[in-house]
Amino acid sequence: MKRRLIVGNWKMHKTIGEAVAFIDALLSLEPNLDEVDAVVCPPFTALAAVRDAIGTNRIGLGAQVMNAADYGAFTGQIAPRMLVDCGVRWVILGHSETRMYCGETDAGVNAKIGAALRHGLTPIVAVGETAEEHDAGRTRERVVAQARAAFAGYRPDEVARCVPAYEPIWAIGTGKSDNPQSADAVMAEIVAAVEGLEQTRMLYGGSVKADNLAAFAAQPHIDGGLVGGASLDAESFAELLAIARSADR
Ligand code: PGA
Repeated sequence: MKRRLIVGNWKMHKTIGEAVAFIDALLSLEPNLDEVDAVVCPPFTALAAVRDAIGTNRIGLGAQVMNAADYGAFTGQIAPRMLVDCGVRWVILGHSETRMYCGETDAGVNAKIGAALRHGLTPIVAVGETAEEHDAGRTRERVVAQARAAFAGYRPDEVARCVPAYEPIWAIGTGKSDNPQSADAVMAEIVAAVEGLEQTRMLYGGSVKADNLAAFAAQPHIDGGLVGGASLDAESFAELLAIARSADR
């Protein structure tokens, strides 16, 4: 049985003080982290302070984006080794918002997976269809194409070190989560399309909250959530961890 995993994607939220206050509040709730993995992805400016606030507690630190290059003339970009230097062990790649607002492409995600693995970072690789693609019945075709492009050229043992996340774009931040069974069916197609993924944990994302997480986590191909809005409050995040820990399958 794969350990459940909850990843909080804070997006462009929280100053250093707010981020540290979140970790302090979460730890004061004493979440049981024995049977569930928790990761928070603060903005770059708060990474070092969040690392210090986490200390030796079992909470992983992730980044929301990175460049594939080790160094160079890339104004505004952050290299994998800078993340590692900061205590980061996870990185979100291919989020629909970085695809949309930061020009992240399938080819870029593909290169960044290799860069992340080389530096010992676990890539959380997001794929998802737009509302138009969903309505046109093109969901599976779209996400399978994205997953194939992301993982092209990697050996199954490398693919197995990644965590794919299926996030229907129309479900992100809208309160309209997907139906757990249909999300699971899409995720089964993703697994079937890329050798190695059967060994990984897979996340669903898109309006995950305390009242729907159990239904997602009960699905055979869903091992946890990539969570935006509901990860910003410590009590809400602790509740998600408790639900993921005890979800039936
Ligand atoms: P949401 O965001 O939980 O606020 O829908 C999810 C995400 O973008 O990863």
